[in-house]
Amino acid sequence: MHIILIGPPGSGKGTQANLLTKLLAVNYIATGDMFREEVAKGTELGKLAKVYMDRGDYVPDEITIDMLLKRLENTPKNGVLLDGFPRTVGQAQALDDALAKRDTAIDKVAYINVSEEELTRRLGGRLICERCRSVYNEATHRSKRTGICDRCGGMLYQREDDRPEAARRRLSVYFQQTTPVLEYYRKQGKLAEVSGEGPIEDVTFALLTAFGAASVLPD
Ligand code: AP5
Ligand code: MG
Ligand code: ZN
Repeated sequence: MHIILIGPPGSGKGTQANLLTKLLAVNYIATGDMFREEVAKGTELGKLAKVYMDRGDYVPDEITIDMLLKRLENTPKNGVLLDGFPRTVGQAQALDDALAKRDTAIDKVAYINVSEEELTRRLGGRLICERCRSVYNEATHRSKRTGICDRCGGMLYQREDDRPEAARRRLSVYFQQTTPVLEYYRKQGKLAEVSGEGPIEDVTFALLTAFGAASVLPD
């Protein structure tokens, strides 16, 4: 199974991917997490990506595609869930070409739709675990102990690009550059739209249904 989660910043891609990868037993690739790991390690790629990320801009296609395709080559072939890739039509075409060479293809793309006001509210309150990357929210999804991850005890932090100015820029870049990607997959008949508002478990159920996999849930 090769599936994609597309949605604006704060729509819940990371939150849902963490749940779905366990339920569906697929490999997980998130280009935003990959870039943040490179930044944390201080690599040349990380230094370059950080300039774009901190502003709220996309990292250029050639850099992002190269990084993603290398990871895909080293990923077991049983299936993958992509979070945050592709975000441009160029990236979508490169992905289709690479998968075709492996005699496979994207099965389904879920677009997580959330209103702009709700996105702004969520990004402002988001906290991430520095160790296991679990996602929390000061308003809607708090950890039991302030600043500490429920799952692994790691420290929670605010992302650099969740500052108001960068968050606004990310939303506008998304609407400009990623809206055409929805059309790209709609034309292929692979796009399903799911509401990303409401309780987290309801969104998970809607996504599983869109992927034709609701049967993985216990009764
Ligand atoms: P990336 O890390 O992918 O950021 P993003 O797309 O901006 O998305 P987010 O991670 O901010 O949001 P999310 O949808 O994962 O929401 P989350 O689950 O955290 O990319 C970062 C940067 O890397 C980009 O800006 C770019 O520079 C670069 N990059 C990455 N990929 C690239 C590519 N392909 N091309 C070029 N550049 C690339 O949830 C958000 C908050 O909402 C949390 O606090 C959560 O607790 C809360 N929440 C979630 N669900 C609900 C719910 N149902 N109800 C209430 N609250 C909820
Ligand atoms: Mg994310
Ligand atoms: Zn953690």
